[in-house]
Amino acid sequence: MKEQLSQAALKLLFTEARTYHAWTQESLPEEKLHQIYDLMKWGPTSMNTLPMRILFVKSEAEKQRLAPAMMTSNSQQVLHAPVTAIIAYDEKFFTHLPELFPAYNAKPLFENNQKLSEETAMRNGSLQGGYFIIAARALGLDVLPMSGFDANAINESFFKGTTWKVNFVCSLGVGDSAKLYPRGPRLSFEEACKII
Ligand SMILES: Cc1cc2nc3c(=O)[nH]c(=O)nc-3n(C[C@H](O)[C@H](O)[C@H](O)COP(=O)(O)O)c2cc1C
Repeated sequence: MKEQLSQAALKLLFTEARTYHAWTQESLPEEKLHQIYDLMKWGPTSMNTLPMRILFVKSEAEKQRLAPAMMTSNSQQVLHAPVTAIIAYDEKFFTHLPELFPAYNAKPLFENNQKLSEETAMRNGSLQGGYFIIAARALGLDVLPMSGFDANAINESFFKGTTWKVNFVCSLGVGDSAKLYPRGPRLSFEEACKII
């Protein structure tokens, strides 16, 4: 086995990493957004399809445009977060395959099969969303992933005329731990796993 991460790193990524609903005033330089992408892009996807796309919403004007598409308290959460990433996927991700996966001519497989393309984009785009969350935490940030939004409204407002579609939304910043909710329990190994 390879060397494993330190206990401090495991705490930062998992056991003490919380979902934050409020943020400190600490600013989030654009350089950090580049660092997150340059780390998470190495996570695996099927045939190296890399369908995830990210629209970082940072300016006040764009936050105001996103807020009405978010449900209930998520609107305020987006307005108050330093940056909110719209985690999207490209429906036409396969146009990049000749370059990304030169070992096999996989493009025709997807361009002629919409069901396979949609499943592949959603599965791998969601995996990449998970890598995004872990990369942000590894770089000392906190996250608030959200699925409470009107997908049609976000697609219409931000991705009209493009091949991008929203998957989920994820605010980023340095969380305010004074405003954390009590943490929910997790299922035990016995409840969630089987070894056969
Ligand atoms: C895909 C996804 C969607 C979520 N949607 C929302 C949401 O719409 N609004 C919200 O306030 N929290 C949302 N959450 C936050 C979860 O409730 C939270 O991550 C979970 O309860 C675990 O909290 P903990 O990380 O503090 O243990 C979402 C989380 C994920 C991963």
